[in-house]
Amino acid sequence: MAAAVPARPGPWMTWPFLPDELDDLQRRPGATAWILDTGDGEPVGHVQLTPVDDALRIGRLIVDPTMRGQGWGRRILVLALEHARAGGVPRVQLGVLASNTPARRLYESLGFVADTETLDAPIVLMARNV
Ligand SMILES: CC(C)(COP(=O)(O)OP(=O)(O)OC[C@H]1O[C@@H](n2cnc3c(N)ncnc32)[C@H](O)[C@@H]1OP(=O)(O)O)[C@@H](O)C(=O)NCCC(=O)NCCS
Repeated sequence: MAAAVPARPGPWMTWPFLPDELDDLQRRPGATAWILDTGDGEPVGHVQLTPVDDALRIGRLIVDPTMRGQGWGRRILVLALEHARAGGVPRVQLGVLASNTPARRLYESLGFVADTETLDAPIVLMARNV
């Protein structure tokens, strides 16, 4: 697995993003930012997808705090996987704070596996084939 770790992953993020966070998002070469809406135009979550070598890096996944626990995070990741598949990208990867239990459970439930070398690190790298 490539040792590309997203900057500041995890629950520090605010929803909606603050202006300086938007500046940071725009500085990332090759990164694309995606917003999911509920179908009636209401934004519910965000994910950043960045090509890294032969993989797609998932970063800055966040769901509106008032909408959590309703399957939106899973839906965003399923769409990210479909996007990778459509683009012929064989692997997706991400970094998650070791202490971020909701996110780790979500990733594990979708088949992401932790890189054993990072299991005791503050940020665990996870990946799965598309
Ligand atoms: C992580 C996050 C995106 C999950 O979004 P969500 O819409 O609440 O997640 P879902 O409703 O799709 O839940 C999917 C799975 O995630 C796990 N999960 C979600 N919330 C959880 C919680 N509070 N505790 C434990 N597991 C949880 C469960 O496995 C759940 O599956 P289940 O409903 O069948 O039990 C959301 O909590 C969030 O925005 N957190 C703050 C930002 C963040 O930490 N992002 C991750 C950066 S790496």
